[in-house]
Amino acid sequence: MITKTTYGYSIYNKNIFLNIVFYDDYIVRFVYTKDDKLPESTPAIIAKQQKIPAELDGNAIKTDLFKILINEEDLKISIYDINNNLINKDKGINIDEIEIEKELLWEKGFYGLGEKYGWINKKGTDTVNWCSDVLGHSPVHSAVVKEYHTAIPFYIGLDSDKTYGIYYDNSFKTYFDFGKYKENVVRVKADGGILDYYFIYGEKVSDIVKNYSLLTGTMPLPRKDFLGYQQCRWSYENRKELMEVATRMRDENIPCDILYLDIDYMKDYKVFTVDSEKFDEFKEMNMKLKEMGFKLVVIIDPGVKQEGGYTVYDEGTKNDYFVKDALGKVYVGEVWPGDSVFPDFLRSEIREWWGNLHKGLIDDGVDGIWNDMNEPANFTTDTKTLPEDCIHLNDKGEKKTHDEIHNLYAMLEAQATYDGLRKLQKTRPFVLTRSAFSGTQRYAALWTGDNTSIWEHLESSMPMFMNLGLSGYSFIGGDVGGFLGDSNGELLARWTQLGVFTPLFRNHSVKDSIDQEPWCFGEEVLYNTRKYINLRYKLITYLYNLMRESSLTGQPVMRPLFYHYQNDEKTYDINNQFLFGENIMVCPITRPGYNNRLIYLPEGLWYDYWTQERIDGGRYIIREADINTLPIYIKAGTILPMDEAMDYIGQKEGKLEINIYTGNDGQYKLYLDDGISFNYENGIYSEVEIKVEESDEDIKIQTTVLKNEYQIPSFDINIIGLEDGKKVLLDRKEISKYDDSEFKIRF
Ligand code: GLC
Repeated sequence: MITKTTYGYSIYNKNIFLNIVFYDDYIVRFVYTKDDKLPESTPAIIAKQQKIPAELDGNAIKTDLFKILINEEDLKISIYDINNNLINKDKGINIDEIEIEKELLWEKGFYGLGEKYGWINKKGTDTVNWCSDVLGHSPVHSAVVKEYHTAIPFYIGLDSDKTYGIYYDNSFKTYFDFGKYKENVVRVKADGGILDYYFIYGEKVSDIVKNYSLLTGTMPLPRKDFLGYQQCRWSYENRKELMEVATRMRDENIPCDILYLDIDYMKDYKVFTVDSEKFDEFKEMNMKLKEMGFKLVVIIDPGVKQEGGYTVYDEGTKNDYFVKDALGKVYVGEVWPGDSVFPDFLRSEIREWWGNLHKGLIDDGVDGIWNDMNEPANFTTDTKTLPEDCIHLNDKGEKKTHDEIHNLYAMLEAQATYDGLRKLQKTRPFVLTRSAFSGTQRYAALWTGDNTSIWEHLESSMPMFMNLGLSGYSFIGGDVGGFLGDSNGELLARWTQLGVFTPLFRNHSVKDSIDQEPWCFGEEVLYNTRKYINLRYKLITYLYNLMRESSLTGQPVMRPLFYHYQNDEKTYDINNQFLFGENIMVCPITRPGYNNRLIYLPEGLWYDYWTQERIDGGRYIIREADINTLPIYIKAGTILPMDEAMDYIGQKEGKLEINIYTGNDGQYKLYLDDGISFNYENGIYSEVEIKVEESDEDIKIQTTVLKNEYQIPSFDINIIGLEDGKKVLLDRKEISKYDDSEFKIRF
């Protein structure tokens, strides 16, 4: 019998309840339980249940968008779209094994699943979601490793006219198989918990990503200056070394905003301490760095050194804040500080305590926090993490074993850090994390962990980034130049070129490897990296706008081509090109000694960014690309703001150049705010809409100030690709708050 409930329907058969619950017109949850209670969701879920117009017709639930057909005998469901196309169909359900099989119907591609090695399209592959310190159990990131730093149990099925997403809300170890072991079967399984998943409907892949973001949240708008170039190293060992790097950046005219301190800044690797011998006058150093335009990020690992007399350990012990072993004693593992204990971030009281511990660092002028080893990593066990039977306690005082909390651990730590910084700083917090679960985008940017300085890792980072983007993660990047092993000039140059288009743009390398700052490989590499880091700064306002969009809707910054060309199947397996926003296509060189590459230009008219040559798409082309050239294409109709050159963000009140790539009508909404505070939450920002319409005779450019609560810089407008004889009409529309002196168009 199918019965109506407040937010959906419930079906009971053979001692099993299937609860169907709506969260939005496009999001419906299916939960199989042995009692009629709706289980608690993981902290990934932020959406609320909703009353959605739906009617029961026999054994079908019909909404305005789709129809769910229920087999009351075996509780299997099939989902049809409004035109009666079959979208998704159960093949088998095994409640005891927490396993569901779906028929692989029409899907030509499967995507998502966060950070995974391998090609972008996961069809024919399988994977496991269990947050892991990859180098703890593998010498190198590779396709045979399934368990990466993140666990994001979400995938998208795709074809040209159909798509959907499935988010499996289960924090235990989960297994996904896209037709690898059983032909035409998609299998999802968990090691514990219950069978609880959300079906996300949409017509386009972008709808799925946006709806997944409604379910699990979007990233908060980051500080604009954290989109600048970031330089890291394990480790800048002392104050002198760090200041030398800072000075050299300015001397070599390498724009740079962010510097990092890795674990060696601490006293004996004790978190929340600073080694005052190596970093004497730490606060003064930070003030000096700020004067030079730098912001400092320091690393904080979750492992707390087990040492009496060390405040963090003593406080945590006194208050019973650390994870216990199966026998109820505080679990002691080993990380950098030696014997270490692990805060139980599951409880809000402990998260608050941890957040407040950052006060000293923030008072000393630290600007951001880097959360590493938070899978959590542990050197003493075979699994390189905490034993699965370790005990956590939640806010209700209920015991939870580590196998359930493991995949959430980093997210809970990131939440603690973000919330702490939000209280301690006036500025927007910056938290960088290695490990993540669905929803962690709400608290932290993410880097893809310990890659190696090899060409394969430059290439394989692209599908990883694109799938992270489809999994709700926009503020992402990898270690530019490669982390493990020694980099080289050509590799660093090519990696920096890709880094320009990753929202997190950080060069980082392992201890005892050769240095890989931009000046370490001779004049040509220095020239080359400087040129591309400068390009990043020219694109800062454009990138900031993409981040703003992402913070509102979850749209990724780095997008696979099929994100905007879903009806072109040739795009489904493109791993080594991506879109930066909708209209800029980036085609990195990822092989040594290559001076050209094959490029697929999707349909439409494109411009070569460097030569401004116009090229018709819908075909493959070969582009020459010496070491100084990263092929970039701009779609006709693009309105591209570009910044003036700068050493760091906020250095000067620059002018914007608005480049209009003709050949198509275009529209762009430019968002501007102070880039650092939360004033935008109170409406203190500006928005200017720029519209370009082309006819046979002329091009009309219309600018409309939609909101003017923050300063609007002066613009220069460049018309690109204008052919002889065309007139340009500039039409300025004013609104009441518009202040003429602030808004100039020179033409
Ligand atoms: C881990 C991190 C790496 C860091 C190192 C030392 O390997 O992934 O980025 O440099 O630990 O803290």
